[in-house]
Amino acid sequence: MTDFVRWTKQQDIAVITIDNPPVNALSPGVPEGIVAAVAEAESDRSVKALVLIGAGKSFIAGADIKEFVKLTSGQRRGDIGILAHLLKIEDSPKPVVVAIQGNALGGGLEVAQACHYRVAASDARLGQPEVNLGIIPGAGGTQRLPRLVGVERAIEMCTTGRPVGATEAAQLGLIDRVVAGDLLAGAVAFAREVAGKPIRKTRERSDRLGTPEQNAPIFAAARENARKKYRNQICQMAAIDAIEAATRLPFDKGCQEERRLFDHCLYSEQSKAQIHVFFAEREVSKIPDIPKEMPLLAVDRMAIVGAGTMGGGIAMVCANAGVPVALKDTDPAALDRGLATIEKNYAMSVKRGRFTREYVDERLKLIKTTLSYDDFASADMVIEAVFETMPLKKQVFAELDRVMKKGAILASNTSTLNIDEIAATTSRPESVIGMHFFSPANVMRLLEIVRGRRTSKEVIATCLQLARRLGKVGVLVGNCRGFVGNRMFLPYIREAQFLVEEGAAPEAVDQALVDWGMAMGPLAVGDLGGLDVSYRIRKEYRHLEKPGARQPFVEDRLVEMGRLGQKTGAGWYKYDAERRASSDPEISGLLRKWAAESGLAQRQISAEEIVEREIYSLVNEGARILEEGYALRAGDIDTIYVNGYGFPAYRGGPMWYADTVGPKKVYERISAFHRQHGMLWEPAPLLEELATSGGTFANFQRAAAQATD
Ligand code: CAA
Ligand code: NAI
Repeated sequence: MTDFVRWTKQQDIAVITIDNPPVNALSPGVPEGIVAAVAEAESDRSVKALVLIGAGKSFIAGADIKEFVKLTSGQRRGDIGILAHLLKIEDSPKPVVVAIQGNALGGGLEVAQACHYRVAASDARLGQPEVNLGIIPGAGGTQRLPRLVGVERAIEMCTTGRPVGATEAAQLGLIDRVVAGDLLAGAVAFAREVAGKPIRKTRERSDRLGTPEQNAPIFAAARENARKKYRNQICQMAAIDAIEAATRLPFDKGCQEERRLFDHCLYSEQSKAQIHVFFAEREVSKIPDIPKEMPLLAVDRMAIVGAGTMGGGIAMVCANAGVPVALKDTDPAALDRGLATIEKNYAMSVKRGRFTREYVDERLKLIKTTLSYDDFASADMVIEAVFETMPLKKQVFAELDRVMKKGAILASNTSTLNIDEIAATTSRPESVIGMHFFSPANVMRLLEIVRGRRTSKEVIATCLQLARRLGKVGVLVGNCRGFVGNRMFLPYIREAQFLVEEGAAPEAVDQALVDWGMAMGPLAVGDLGGLDVSYRIRKEYRHLEKPGARQPFVEDRLVEMGRLGQKTGAGWYKYDAERRASSDPEISGLLRKWAAESGLAQRQISAEEIVEREIYSLVNEGARILEEGYALRAGDIDTIYVNGYGFPAYRGGPMWYADTVGPKKVYERISAFHRQHGMLWEPAPLLEELATSGGTFANFQRAAAQATD
């Protein structure tokens, strides 16, 4: 036994408890401790059966991911070594019953599969989420899971990474019983039922493995699906290969194949990037000048001003988290429109099976629409989501200052405006903060939390915690124009326009980026959001552009022609009634004509150049943001791009990607673009510094506190 594992007796049943907070990961010492406890309990003649349970709220969240980093960085040799321990548990002559509460994920579920019986509380989540880290199960999961649930479901669980709940797990044959009430008591009672019965080892089962004839179409369909859905990614294909090995090879040979495929994934750039994303997403809530123990403000009731696209979406987010919300607009028609959109979005979720009708009805009861501020006085926090103009925001914040109770948080969902200027219209700038949700707010995980110059630490800490409660990844950013995400997006979409103006077809620009891994191409994104949005921003902020810098012009012309994107049926592409895009020959003609009129030489542009110019424009602006302190860490920028802008997690985010290419190489390419295309490509000083010093963005630490404007 080790410090992480202890065992006690409840008469004839041994209860082995795994205690490795916070999530009972299988860190070094944990698997060894389980095996030692099993051996001790087995040798106690009064013990008839064993129960394995996790301390705290959860069973086991998997292998210790930090150990993977040690392996791939050369700090540790060998392998994680869980597999051999699981064989020992499975070989126990006395029945071992696993009692699962909370999470049984990755290696945690593999431990459970190696035990003889599994019971679970109704809140249990059982999954093989390794693909989220760019790897596959590595402790026999690809071999035992198909033996328990069948090939098709094993493929689904291992390629999507989605966990199943207790009821579904019971239907699948993954667990033997759902325990109502006290889990440990239920597991002990179950253990008494099975004590003395013959041991069943999962690895010796083959009844659900299917025949080659049955499996061939399943594997073919799974591979076809993985090719389409997980473009460029290696781990889903590896998971399918490993499961296929389970159907063709004896268990031990199948495990060897799993190990080979696991290592292939683990040592890939993709997995390193995804593991970086995992830790970066958790790092974002750690703010150097805000202690972990900072007291939080209670947020039990919320209010929202503006029932439009964003206000309605944010109301859904609050309701989904069980927080009652008052939603205000200026006239009944606007409120009706807002509520109708909310209802339509919920109806869609019911149709897609995401929510039940009853669940939605409960959520809708939490949203109260109103035309007055009466309901606001009892709210702990308000989020303003009215039109994006400073005079209106100022007027609304002056009103909020009057009606909201003392200590309430006053947040703005502005995407471009200065939080400090908004805060200055109130008597309590310390309570004012930006909460920049992304559209559609009820779907997108990203939330930029914008720190004003005077925003209090309690308010920041509360908003970071609230983000988690709302199911968002909240990233604290400084108060600069466009904050972090949109500030970087600006040069990215501008460069896409330059590429088109120089001769690349819009489809070629988008396709190059989609092939590289972006969820959508930049021009298609423009069409989706409406080209008029960036048009207005370009016009409003033109005076802030560097004098003499090249400006894109084609998109402005499209807007002036009424081609605003999907909503007008035409933008960079044309759209049918179902909003399906197709190339528009009119556009290619216009682009050639406009380029000729402007004296712009057009040429063939390779996909490689498109990708470099697009991704490096993100990196260069990201480097400035980091250096100026508007983002605390390179990982924060990566988290923003992966969660809000469709950047592929398997490339780690723009800053991580730049580190993998090498800051020196990126600097050299950007310097070449600078010479060729002019001042907009001036390399960021931090990039130059890293290129010279051999440093990386990941290791860059800014000395000063976070900048706010
Ligand atoms: N290894 C190491 N640390 C882990 C971990 C793991 N498997 N899972 C979570 N943690 C750490 C987090 O980094 C975080 O640390 P800090 O507090 O220092 O930031 C802490 O535990 C709490 O995690 P969360 O903030 O994520 O807590 P949560 O309650 O929101 O979520 C969770 C809990 C659902 C378990 C989530 O942490 C999670 O998804 N973890 C990863 C699960 C996973 O991918 N397991 C498979 C691992 S690979 C494997 O097992 C391969 C194999 O076959 C052997
Ligand atoms: P919208 O035009 O869909 O909705 C604005 C709503 O505010 C309308 O219903 C309007 O009637 C209401 N309104 C205007 N003045 C009001 C007042 N004085 N009191 C109460 N209600 C009032 O706008 P959208 O897109 O929802 O944007 C709202 C805010 O969110 C803006 O600041 C915008 O920049 C920001 N944002 C928008 C995103 C988007 O993709 N649409 C993404 C992120 C932020």
